[in-house]
Amino acid sequence: MIRIAGTRSAAAVAVLFIVIVAVAASQDTLASPDTALFIYDKIDDNSRFYIEAVRENLGGMGIPFKEAAAETEKNYDASPYHRVIVYSMVMGFNMISPVRSWLRKGEGLTGKDVLILVTANRWFNEKQRKELVKIAGDRQANVIDAVSMATEKLSDEKKQKTIGKHLARLQP
Ligand SMILES: Cc1cc2nc3c(=O)[nH]c(=O)nc-3n(C[C@H](O)[C@H](O)[C@H](O)COP(=O)(O)O)c2cc1C
Repeated sequence: MIRIAGTRSAAAVAVLFIVIVAVAASQDTLASPDTALFIYDKIDDNSRFYIEAVRENLGGMGIPFKEAAAETEKNYDASPYHRVIVYSMVMGFNMISPVRSWLRKGEGLTGKDVLILVTANRWFNEKQRKELVKIAGDRQANVIDAVSMATEKLSDEKKQKTIGKHLARLQP
């Protein structure tokens, strides 16, 4: 009798343990519905200002987010997120960029709300914007907004304002 009770309690403890582990694992892989993914090419002297501006705006809007650099996290899976902010800078006329390759892979992008931001110093910003919009559309993402900036003649204030205005589209 005592052995049976002991076996039962051991089984109960085991079940409880499995449930706790499963819940912990699911929390790790499934972001809350509010959490957004912010993906960009890489952090360097060219992109830092814009990445900071996006972080600040998301923080200001109270949107929790995870971020990833497509250059090093080529296979980052967007599945756990409902909203994805894509920032890419033009790095040559051929439009090749880590973010572009990441979008082409399209892991977990189907049905996701995607907002695209592109910067270039002077040239090809619109070309890149249109290409990224097309690729995201091909991956069945829902592009809610896409903006490009030729930044050469823009003040920092104007850049920040533009980013803020477009990120506001993420709010319901
Ligand atoms: C390898 C490389 C290639 C680039 N090619 C272009 C280009 O073809 N056209 C352009 O306008 N800017 C180009 N840029 C500049 C970046 O797009 C620019 O630095 C970035 O968008 C941030 O803008 P800002 O430096 O004016 O603040 C290039 C930058 C790098 C590092």
